[in-house]
Amino acid sequence: MIYNGYKITHKVVFSLLLLLFAVSVSSCSPFNVDETSQNVRPAETEPAENLIRVGFSQLGSESKWRRANSISIRDALTVDDGFFLQFNNARQKQENQIKAIRGFISQQVDYIAFCPVTEDGWDTVLKEAKDANIPVILVDRQVSADSSLYTTWIGENMRKEGENAGLWLEKILEERGKNHDKINIIELIGTRGSSSQLGRSMGFDTVCEKHKNWVMLDREDGEFTTAKGQEVMSGFLQKYDDIDVVVCQNDDMAIGALQAMKDAGMDLYGDEKPIIVSFDASRQGLEMVMQGIIDVDVECKPSSGEKLAEVIHELERGNQVAKEYYMDEEVFTIDNALKYVDERSY
Ligand code: AHR
Repeated sequence: MIYNGYKITHKVVFSLLLLLFAVSVSSCSPFNVDETSQNVRPAETEPAENLIRVGFSQLGSESKWRRANSISIRDALTVDDGFFLQFNNARQKQENQIKAIRGFISQQVDYIAFCPVTEDGWDTVLKEAKDANIPVILVDRQVSADSSLYTTWIGENMRKEGENAGLWLEKILEERGKNHDKINIIELIGTRGSSSQLGRSMGFDTVCEKHKNWVMLDREDGEFTTAKGQEVMSGFLQKYDDIDVVVCQNDDMAIGALQAMKDAGMDLYGDEKPIIVSFDASRQGLEMVMQGIIDVDVECKPSSGEKLAEVIHELERGNQVAKEYYMDEEVFTIDNALKYVDERSY
């Protein structure tokens, strides 16, 4: 066949039909999750009338914890449970999260949920959501904005986690008869300005302040990633030769820091090594606790998806919900890690 000067073969017609089919299938998919995309899916991906439309902005995929958190959200907000989820990965950039939230507002979703990458800078976009009458639910981290701008928060007690790490250190130094020695500490903090970083540092500092012999030599941003953790730790090892305690604000950074120590020829086992304090209690973290490499791993639970679904259903029924929901968390050492390692999904 000749059309407009072009020869149309059967092959071309078949390819066009295939393309049309692929487009129609993808735009009808009720499970609208696109973790790799920077953008919110266009409005033509309309959900069925009776589904609750939730726009979710995940801050990134920097750690195993984060990936487990994304999975928990996706596993809980399913079509079977009445949800149409639009999932966006902001790749650690607040501007991407704000853009995604604005996209959700213009699509008039029923709820917006997000894990804020940092605490500050949300006032304007939260006001926009409020003006559009869209309830906002914070997940994992917190914001410094006025609490009237969001409906509820579901997450972890970061300050308590930091304090628990400090209290454990206090106890172990006493047990080892080192409670009056000078103790040099370095800290690999997570994303600077995030509520996880601020809370954990603040909690740990409350215990530090009680001990004049504890010296915080340095703290630097390891961005919650293994690569950056390794880089920061290499720098610390060149700068300081008498480190007693390494505090890593998550397991991914701890793994990087331990690699840097190994590369520098340090012993990762035994009483002479620095005390390693970590957070998250991932499977790999707990395995290292069992091997005596990490001394304490303070749990941070990523499984907030179920609670998010529950809270939205409550709101749909017209019920009041609490302003804050805390996940339960534990502290793991060689004495109790074994019991939990196998059940770890992250
Ligand atoms: O906000 C939670 C923290 O963010 C987790 O400790 C860390 O692993 C993640 O990246």
